[in-house]
Order: sequence, then structure tokens, then C-alpha cells
Amino acid sequence: MTDLKAITVLVPGKLHPRSVQRIGETFNLVTVDAFDPSTFADDLTQSVRGVAVSPALGGAFVGPAFIDALPKVEIISNFGVGYDGVDAVYAAKKGVMVTNTPDVLTEEVADTTLGLLLNTVRELARAENYLREGRWAREGAYPLTPSLRGRKVGILGMGRIGQAIGKRLEAFGLSVAYHNRRKVDGLTYDYFPTLEGLAEAVDILISVVPGTKETEKVVNARVLEALGPDGIFVNIGRGSTVDEAALAAALKGGIIRAAGLDVFANEPNVPQALLELSNATLLPHVGSASTYTRDAMADLVVDNLIEWFSKGRALTPVPE
Ligand code: DGY
Repeated sequence: MTDLKAITVLVPGKLHPRSVQRIGETFNLVTVDAFDPSTFADDLTQSVRGVAVSPALGGAFVGPAFIDALPKVEIISNFGVGYDGVDAVYAAKKGVMVTNTPDVLTEEVADTTLGLLLNTVRELARAENYLREGRWAREGAYPLTPSLRGRKVGILGMGRIGQAIGKRLEAFGLSVAYHNRRKVDGLTYDYFPTLEGLAEAVDILISVVPGTKETEKVVNARVLEALGPDGIFVNIGRGSTVDEAALAAALKGGIIRAAGLDVFANEPNVPQALLELSNATLLPHVGSASTYTRDAMADLVVDNLIEWFSKGRALTPVPE
């Protein structure tokens, strides 16, 4: 049996405390605050065989310099289904396994999406502020909102989370369409081979795509224009998929009506232009942020490491 305690696992920066605790109980845990691998001591670089990281929670970006600094590293276990904080292509080239935490967060992120959508359309945050200012929604005084009823919703990215959002939208009696790299077998929603075509056809666009080179700024001025002046845009995927300057301009200029955003290109920085807009509902990347789901993600990070070092395989490797 492998002596897991003899294996060094590095946690660079912040990670869920449950992961850190379990790694410490199981492996030889080393934590570092410095993200610069050139400052790592020799005994550290020569001993690390596993890395557990959450760039989204404030962990290091694991790119080529980081991977090259750790010649014995075998696995990078990423907290989150999105693994844009790890250069998975470079890792694969170097023969390093990368894992993520899919499935355990699907329902949570889909629930958050519906909450964000409802808040954005029905302006619930504004309604709450109205009450806290000591006012009541009297007819004629309270500005009425658009309605979700009867609207057609387009989903950009029809993976597990996109499909869970689709089910919820159907339960709301809404019609669903989608754009994806390819048509998904068995789905009866209208498929649009282009994003602009989808934006043209729907009233609400929800983006769930991961952040990759291919998806960078795919939601651009043309797509927002196609969505139109009553259009609502919701982003629960990655901020890098949106041209944020174009989005702020579209919101300001009435090109679209409103946006609900849980993710931003440069987290934790939120562009000032968006902060100034009352028709943008802004959340601090909380799609999966429930106790239950974050615990499940934290466990999967550790279980992937245990599976790898005791059985030589990973539970949830990232797609190739
Ligand atoms: C993910 O899992 O990628 C989420 O965005 C992290 O909360």
C-alpha cells in the first residue's frame, strides 16, 4: 500500500479549508503564499508530486512557469468545474494530470442562475432597497418591471449546467433554445449554429461557457445588438467570455435592457463602468457558493489526489 503521508502536496494560496484539512491529514501538506515559483526552496520544488489549487478563490495561476518549477509533479487538482486557472494544455504536454470538480455543483449553479435571472428581470434588489428606504410599492409610484412570462431564453453552452438550467426554465413554462460547439444528442430545444443567430432569436441570453481561448469575448457588441433593446444578458460561466466594455456600453446606451453577472474577466475587480449602472445586477462569483456544494467540491479535490496516488487514476480528469 502506498504511504500517502510520504507524498508532498502543495497548496499555493487560498483553498477551501476542508480540502486543506483533509490534505493535511492524508498527505505531507505544504502551503505557500507566494505564487512566484522562482522563490520556491529546492527541497520544495524537488518533492512536490501533487498540487491542489483554486485560482477562483485566490489560489495561484498554475501556468507553464509553475509547472516547470515542479519537475516531479504528477497531478494538479483544481477546485471548481472551470479550470481556466490551470494551463491544462501545457500540463497535458508535460504528462501532468489535471482534475476538476464537475457534477457536484451542477444543481447549485443552475439554481443560482435562475435566482440571478429573476433578480435581473424583476429587479428584486432594487425593490428591497426601495423598502429599506422606507417606501412601499404604491401603484403609480413604484417603477414596474419587465416580466419573465412568455419570453424565449437562449443558453450559450449546453453542457451539464446548461442542461440543468434548461430544465428549470422549462418548469417556468419558458421556451428554450441554445448554441453550443455542436448539437447535443437527445435535446429537443432549438439549436442555433451561431451565437449571433441565437441572440437574434431570443429575449434572454444566458452564458454558461467555460473560459478558453476559443470563447474569449464571444459575447461582443454584435451579439448584444442582436439581443436587442428588451434583451437581458446573464453570465454565470466566465467573465473572459464577454467584452465587458461593449457590455457596459450596451447597458448604458439601451442596446440591451439589463444584465445579471456572477463572473468578471478580472476577478475580483469589477469594471467601474458596470458598477455605475443600475441595470446591471452584480454578484461576487457565488454560483456554487453554498455550504453543501462547496464541501462536496472540497472533498472531490482531495478524493482525486487520493485516487491518483493510491490507484494511479483520477476520478474526474478534465476533458482532453
Ligand atoms: C467553478 O466551479 O468553475 C465555479 O465557477 C467556481 O465557483
